[in-house]
Formats: sequence, C-alpha cells, structure tokens
Amino acid sequence: MERLNIAIDGPSGSGKSTTAKAIAKELDIIYLDTGAMFRALGLKAKLSNVDVNDVEAVVAMLANTTVDVKYVNSKMELYLDGAEVSNEIRENSISKLASDISKIAEVREMLIVTQREIAKNNDVILDGRDIGTVVLKDAKYKYFLTADSDIRASRRVAELKEKGQIVAFDVVLAEIKSRDYNDTNRPIAPLKQAEDAILIDSTSHTLNEVVDIIIKSIRR
Ligand code: DC
Repeated sequence: MERLNIAIDGPSGSGKSTTAKAIAKELDIIYLDTGAMFRALGLKAKLSNVDVNDVEAVVAMLANTTVDVKYVNSKMELYLDGAEVSNEIRENSISKLASDISKIAEVREMLIVTQREIAKNNDVILDGRDIGTVVLKDAKYKYFLTADSDIRASRRVAELKEKGQIVAFDVVLAEIKSRDYNDTNRPIAPLKQAEDAILIDSTSHTLNEVVDIIIKSIRR
C-alpha cells in the first residue's frame, strides 16, 4: 500500500512545525520533525564537549550515539542515547549547533536512514530543509514554506517566550539570518525549494490559512 508522505521544507521560523502538526492532526497521520534529530546531535556534541565544526571528532561521536523517534498517542518523542530529550533540544543555544553539525555528510547519512524508514512505514508529514529535494524526492506532496525574516524572527521570539526563554528580537533576527545563510549555502543537501514543490509565503497568511491551503491541495 502506498503511504501518504507529505514534505514541508523551508527556513527557520517559517511556520513549518506549527503547520505540519496541525495538518497531521487534521489528517490523522504522524508528524516527523527532522530538525529535532539534528538538534539531538547538537545537544550530544554540547554535552560531550565536541566541537561541531570538527568533522573527525563529530564522526567519532556518532559511532557511540543513537537518535530514536517514538510516538506516544501520535505525539513524537525524541531519544538521545535512550534518554528523552524532546524539551532540552528546544533550548535556543542548540539551534546553531544543529545547523553547524548538519553540514557533515556522516551526520546526514545517519539520520536519513531513520527518516526514510519512518516515511516507508507510516502515513507521515515531515518537515525540514531537504525533505523534498533529498530525503523523499518522490513524495507526492511537497511544499516550501517561507516568510519575511522579520516575521520569522518575531514568531521565534514568541515561541521561545512561551517556553520561558526571553531572547531579544534583534538577537533572534541575527541568528535566523545566520542560520539561513548556513543552511542555504552548505554543499550537501542545502535548503532549497524542490522544483515540484508548491511555494507558500506565510508573510501575509496566518498559519491557519496555510494549513487550509495545504489540506485543500492534498484533498483536491
Ligand atoms: O528545523 P530546526 O530549526 O529545528 O532545524 C535545526 C537545524 O537542523 C537547521 O538549522 C538545519 C538542520 N536541518 C537540516 O539540515 N535538515 C533538515 N531536514 C532539518 C534540519
């Protein structure tokens, strides 16, 4: 039986995760946040004092690292070396570490195995940077979500505030721009709209409207 696989890519703060979660709920399928998996490896590097830009050290770290995804009542939980880290990976300092470590080929090769396995065995909506271009090139439904960097930064500020982290708008904006640059300009699997992806700019749409646009396009 062919599985329903929906790919959503886009830069940080474009509303991918909020949108993907709402769509998963509406369609009664699971949601895979692939960024969370890179964040887990960023967290591991931080905890083990491994420099995320030192390829050799990161590759050595991977040899004794496991990243697992579990679903409890359809909610995704993330495990690093057997311990749940779903909250720890949301810490703002982990964002840049995840972006830096994600440039390493061996990191991507490790995580893509689980990503494809989950997509093969489940009806799932995945969000990330390279889902439509690399991970699931053949996915039937692909979307590329974007928005002005100012809007993305204010969404991130609000999201962090909700988690009890107060970070200034200018700081978040600078971080977003630096991460955009990093993710777009890396040689392997850079952030890029797939040719067959539908582009949605959420600058002038609420996230509810974006969910509607995507659901309608799938049902059509
Ligand atoms: O989606 P996020 O902001 O939680 O992702 C954190 C970082 O992980 C992002 O800056 C780049 C990397 N990433 C990636 O390279 N490929 C993906 N499919 C998802 C995330």
